[in-house]
Amino acid sequence: MESYRIALLGLGTVGGAVVELLAATRKECAERAGRPIEVSRIVVRDPSKNRTVPADLPGHPTIRGDAIEAIEDPNIDAIVELAGGTEAPREWIRLAIEQGKDVITANKAVLAIHGDELFDLAKEHGRSLYYEASVAAAVPILQVIQQGIPAGPVDRLTGILNGTCNFILGRLEELSFEESVKSAQQAGLAEADPTLDISGIDSAHKLALLARILLGCSVPIEKLRVEGIEGLSPHDIEFGWEHDLSLKLLGMMRRNGDGTALGVMPCFLPSSHPLASVRDEDNAVLLEAAPFGSLVLQGKGAGGMPTAGSVVADILRAARGDAISYPASGTVEKITDPGATPVRHYLRLEVPDRHGVLARVAGALASEQVGIAALDQPENLLDFAGVVPIRILTHPVETTRLDLALSHLDEDLQSITRPVRIRIEE
Ligand code: NAP
Ligand code: HSE
Repeated sequence: MESYRIALLGLGTVGGAVVELLAATRKECAERAGRPIEVSRIVVRDPSKNRTVPADLPGHPTIRGDAIEAIEDPNIDAIVELAGGTEAPREWIRLAIEQGKDVITANKAVLAIHGDELFDLAKEHGRSLYYEASVAAAVPILQVIQQGIPAGPVDRLTGILNGTCNFILGRLEELSFEESVKSAQQAGLAEADPTLDISGIDSAHKLALLARILLGCSVPIEKLRVEGIEGLSPHDIEFGWEHDLSLKLLGMMRRNGDGTALGVMPCFLPSSHPLASVRDEDNAVLLEAAPFGSLVLQGKGAGGMPTAGSVVADILRAARGDAISYPASGTVEKITDPGATPVRHYLRLEVPDRHGVLARVAGALASEQVGIAALDQPENLLDFAGVVPIRILTHPVETTRLDLALSHLDEDLQSITRPVRIRIEE
């Protein structure tokens, strides 16, 4: 049987792992695809760099620097986009589909931003656009929500969707924030620009792709509340330990009578919550729906080999010609703010250890009727008259109202402290 010939755009953390996996499992891949898979071309930004590709990689590809030339090659059946970014991949994916080729990608950013255009184009041309690896890497969550659960509304989704952030929050128990980020980069988990991870934007891209399938409509990411993990410190982790809470960056979807709340926020979870014990770069998604109650999927959410597993599974689907369902586009359901639901919040302010400061903080909170349930200010014996953390547990309050109260802190305090506030999800 004729080989299925692919062009690989990108030979970095994921692309490198894909060629290793294709070489190591070529017999199994051919059996499962019904024909051999060949890597006929590899495209990188800098072809002069020294690279090693497994000697037994089927296809014996050339490594070049011109993506367009590879996409236009009439001998190529599919392109596998593993370069990252948004604008160049948008053009490559467009061109590949117009040229009658299937596309496999791990790139959530391009699909979260240009999904309407690219999914519609694939549908129009009858081509397949596979993207399982783009959300939660090794976890086949897109297959599950498209085909593995009964049709009908999933009322709630709660997800740890960024391996780098989960890894960093775990490392914060021992390392500084900067050291934790470095360690995630060295492990090949972080995006080329790690601010995409830390700022919550990468999680928002993935949440938008999940919600598009679950809600059956487009989800513009600019409509989502997106918060990251910048500014969190070991003080916050310690508060969690003291109260049996785990600190996680969560993507949330909550259907309510008024639309669907969607957003990404750092949250404390009680230790009994199904996602509280998810460690390292694991991702996990909790789905809740009337027909099946609740369901959790968990696995490696970042890293070369875990992601390569899903990419190769998509290549095999493409080679077999498995049908895909195109996610809906066009209409937009009403998106609301998950911060509008009242919950208890943890609040930390680094303030000068001076008389009257506590009263000024309490005054700002009282101005919006934010109730204080508990408060502590650890004594700072080593740095008398320096800066101390004030840690406050509020009564249930909307995040929006708490933020308004914090905006009423006087100018002096605003210039000194950047409050950290974290929702405590039940
Ligand atoms: P990476 O290590 O930075 O590798 C990117 C590769 O693409 C490099 O080989 C680079 O070439 C090539 N490239 C970049 N821009 C190019 C251009 N304009 N033309 C040709 N080649 C270009 O990135 P990665 O971590 O493998 O991630 C790749 C994609 O997978 C991204 O969309 C990312 O979001 C997604 N993803 C990553 C992970 C993960 O854990 N890393 C997990 C899931 C999904 P050079 O080698 O010459 O620089
Ligand atoms: N940088 C991403 C993460 C890679 O850490 O989750 C997987 O999409």
